[in-house]
Amino acid sequence: MNILVMGGGTKNRFGNDFVNRARGEGHRVLVVSHKDHGHNHDDHIVANFYSAEDVVSKTESILNKIDKLDIFLFNTVAGKGPWDPDDFMSDSNFFNETDWLFNLRVNAIIPYNVSIICLKKMSEGAKLVYMTTGRSFNMDVTVGPFIPSYYGGKAFLNHIMVAFAHYNDKKVISTAISGHFGYNDPNEYKRTFEKTYLHIMNIDSTHNAKIVTVAI
Ligand SMILES: NC(=O)c1ccc[n+]([C@@H]2O[C@H](COP(=O)([O-])OP(=O)(O)OC[C@H]3O[C@@H](n4cnc5c(N)ncnc54)[C@H](OP(=O)(O)O)[C@@H]3O)[C@@H](O)[C@H]2O)c1
Repeated sequence: MNILVMGGGTKNRFGNDFVNRARGEGHRVLVVSHKDHGHNHDDHIVANFYSAEDVVSKTESILNKIDKLDIFLFNTVAGKGPWDPDDFMSDSNFFNETDWLFNLRVNAIIPYNVSIICLKKMSEGAKLVYMTTGRSFNMDVTVGPFIPSYYGGKAFLNHIMVAFAHYNDKKVISTAISGHFGYNDPNEYKRTFEKTYLHIMNIDSTHNAKIVTVAI
């Protein structure tokens, strides 16, 4: 398969482990990162995530290397905003607008624009896959931290996923995954990684418009 991963650069974390595993199994994996991790791979490029235009044009250029795309995995996580209790008091300082807007760019504008350019290379049965978090849709959790930028950014992403699922013209499957990677416990992480990897490689039309929680 031909796979594009956005946010697959950080070593020993899910995104990069996914890239290495898929390449190891013979898949062609293109990667777009927000910074240079020193991977020195022709199929791994860096884009400026402070500019959606730059991310889109760099992604278009790497997609030119392939004729068709089977999976787009949006794995990026980044956010800036208030989350300390002190940030939510009557005397709190406003959080600066540039940082609020960073969340919109990284969690909505970039994945939306990149999904559109991916669709151009996709056909029926190809997959748009967005990594999200349970906190973006589960309002029953009462323990902090409460992080509007992270959870709210992923909520935006969830709805982008659902809209692509219902509207895209290529019969491409659009779906999201929530889970928890317990990096502190190597055995737990290994099992969660395995389950998540296999889930992504075997996504089918029953997952369209759904957020699938991968739990061990
Ligand atoms: N870890 C968990 O327990 C957990 C829980 C729920 C959901 N998730 C979701 O699962 C996915 C994987 O996350 P992860 O934390 O486990 O590790 P991860 O695979 O390393 O994914 C995060 C990636 O986001 C990119 N990134 C980091 N800072 C950034 C910035 N300032 N601007 C743009 N991109 C940035 C990095 O990729 P590049 O350097 O390649 O750009 C990084 O590898 C994420 O979407 C996350 O929201 C994780």
